[in-house]
Amino acid sequence: MKALVYHGPGDKRWEDVPDAAVQDPTDVVVKVDTTTICGTDLHILQGDVPAVTDGRILGHEAVGTVTDVGAAVTGFAVGDRVLVPAITKCGRCEYCQRGMPSHCQTVGGIGWIFGHLIDGTQAEYVRVPYADTSLYAVPRDVTDDQAIFLADSLPTGYEVGVLAGRVKPGDTVAVVGAGAVGLSAVLTTGLWGASKVIAIDSNKFRLEKALEFGATDAVEVGPGTVADVLALTDGLGVDVSIEAVGYPQTLQTAAALVRPGGTIANIGVHGVPVELPMQEMWIKNVTLTMGLVDTTSIPTLLTMVASGRIPAEKMGTHTFGFDEIERAYEVFGNAAAHEALKVVITTR
Ligand SMILES: NC(=O)c1ccc[n+]([C@@H]2O[C@H](COP(=O)([O-])OP(=O)(O)OC[C@H]3O[C@@H](n4cnc5c(N)ncnc54)[C@H](O)[C@@H]3O)[C@@H](O)[C@H]2O)c1
Ligand SMILES: [Zn+2]
Ligand SMILES: [Zn+2]
Repeated sequence: MKALVYHGPGDKRWEDVPDAAVQDPTDVVVKVDTTTICGTDLHILQGDVPAVTDGRILGHEAVGTVTDVGAAVTGFAVGDRVLVPAITKCGRCEYCQRGMPSHCQTVGGIGWIFGHLIDGTQAEYVRVPYADTSLYAVPRDVTDDQAIFLADSLPTGYEVGVLAGRVKPGDTVAVVGAGAVGLSAVLTTGLWGASKVIAIDSNKFRLEKALEFGATDAVEVGPGTVADVLALTDGLGVDVSIEAVGYPQTLQTAAALVRPGGTIANIGVHGVPVELPMQEMWIKNVTLTMGLVDTTSIPTLLTMVASGRIPAEKMGTHTFGFDEIERAYEVFGNAAAHEALKVVITTR
């Protein structure tokens, strides 16, 4: 089969590799019909994730068809259409039982293993461990172009942004960063009845997208960002301030936007320490949350996509064949120049 293989920083190749096969009785093999690229894949290619070593097949998001099942698998059969989420879970360990499969002890202490600790989904076929507890059946009325975004970006914006931030009816919400993850928070914040959703980014195209996805206001990043957001909230600041970029200054901005009693929900993956003005924050009764996505909201999100309440397909701006995957990386890696949000890589 063919797969996109990592060969060290800056080096990836679409090449022939041994076919994915069942190794353990709890495995299935999935023919990948649709996959996508995550910002994390770009981090890996920059050499930021040392656990990813030479020879690893990249990717942690897929929609596909089961082609082989291990002897112990009871919930899925050959021919089933499935969503392969970014998080793999045993369902039984301490963290899985607590609803935190992001820290599944059985699969390696971290639930994100595809394209990280084991071979991933940017391939013609992928081996899926713990299939019964990890895979989701895709409802017939949800398309591949919708389901693919439920593997990672939509649950991330929803769980680590909206749910962790405890958005309530009437709340004012700011989302710093209108990439796929920030826009996922924008899309799902409306479900909780936020009165105002303010998107903040430096990219005009993405701010337009944010308004299309349900933001009430768009603020272009600049020296006046905090003042602009305060002006939109009667000088009070927002109830929930979501950070979806991953830089020190964007978390500092998110922290500066929150009102007393509010929540700062950090989604961004940070690579360096971040200094926060605790001398100003301690007296504001604010909460700061952070974490790795669990993807446990996928059943809820699938229902909302199926009913039309979440137009997930709007995340995809470009479509490529598998043999064009390197081009897909170029477009996604230069998203601003190409007006790209998420790319869809598909066999269709
Ligand atoms: N916590 C988790 O489980 C989890 C899961 C997936 C992704 N992430 C992280 O979420 C973050 C967002 O992911 P993404 O895929 O949407 O990334 P992205 O790169 O597509 O989007 C980031 C957005 O931030 C904007 N931006 C850059 N600098 C800015 C600034 N100074 N002020 C405002 N906006 C600015 C960019 O224009 C872009 O639109 C990343 O850090 C990613 O690693 C976290
Ligand atoms: Zn990801
Ligand atoms: Zn587990």
